Amino acid sequence: MKIIQKDQLAPTIVRFVVNAAHIAAKAEPGHFVIVRHKEMGERIPLTIADFDRDAGTITLVCQGIGHSTGEINELTTGDSFLDILGPLGEPYPVKKLGTVVCVAGGLGVAPLYPKAKALAAAGNKVITLMGAQTKDMLIMTAEMEAISERVEYSTDDGSLGYKGFVTKLLQDVLETEAVDEVVVIGPLPMMAAAMDVTRPFGVPSIVSLNTLMVDGTGMCGGCRVTVDGQTKFACVDGPAFDGHAVNFKEILQRQPFYKDQERKALHTCRLEEVI
Ligand code: FES
Repeated sequence: MKIIQKDQLAPTIVRFVVNAAHIAAKAEPGHFVIVRHKEMGERIPLTIADFDRDAGTITLVCQGIGHSTGEINELTTGDSFLDILGPLGEPYPVKKLGTVVCVAGGLGVAPLYPKAKALAAAGNKVITLMGAQTKDMLIMTAEMEAISERVEYSTDDGSLGYKGFVTKLLQDVLETEAVDEVVVIGPLPMMAAAMDVTRPFGVPSIVSLNTLMVDGTGMCGGCRVTVDGQTKFACVDGPAFDGHAVNFKEILQRQPFYKDQERKALHTCRLEEVI
């Protein structure tokens, strides 16, 4: 599982191209993997942001916001992941629908890119809307521009494109275009807000849920979500779901459950670095 390329996409976001031929052979848009970077390392779910069957490689994008993801982002070309489990999850169904709006919030562009690429290859008109806190946090813009009919940007500070939330751009597109499907991937509050925007238009809307995960194979229940009143596991039933049927309120309540442990782990790690 050797890293053959590493790119720093933003101050805390790194892209790795990894030799993993057996995963690349079976990968489809929507799949993810679980990586461990060392013995006893935390299991970290990462989306397959791209794959190349001929080269036998998969592309992973990792934001170093915690102890383990920070250590992962210190790996470099020539280093190896200890193990990579996958591909996991249900692939996103790619059909020719007409016009599809792909909405990315921050790091959400990594899982969105393979879906948008496959939708474009299937003959859909892809309109991409990308939002981030600042211009520097907008990643994979060239890749999205290459496969989209047009790309619009929003930033919280106005450093690029519309100053404000990407959901405003989505509202504008839905008011002016006939849209057959919306795919939204980003932070949970942003996906929940986007569903409030698309619901009145009656447009089918897909989200990809980045819930807490442990095993990634449907055994621990850590990733359970309620969809259409039924319990589903994001790792085996998703991570893509009908966004209008997802109980976002419940997920948003459960998501910060391990924040204290994460803060302690990060603090311990920094102390170790100092000592
Ligand atoms: S991560 Fe354990 S059931 Fe989904």
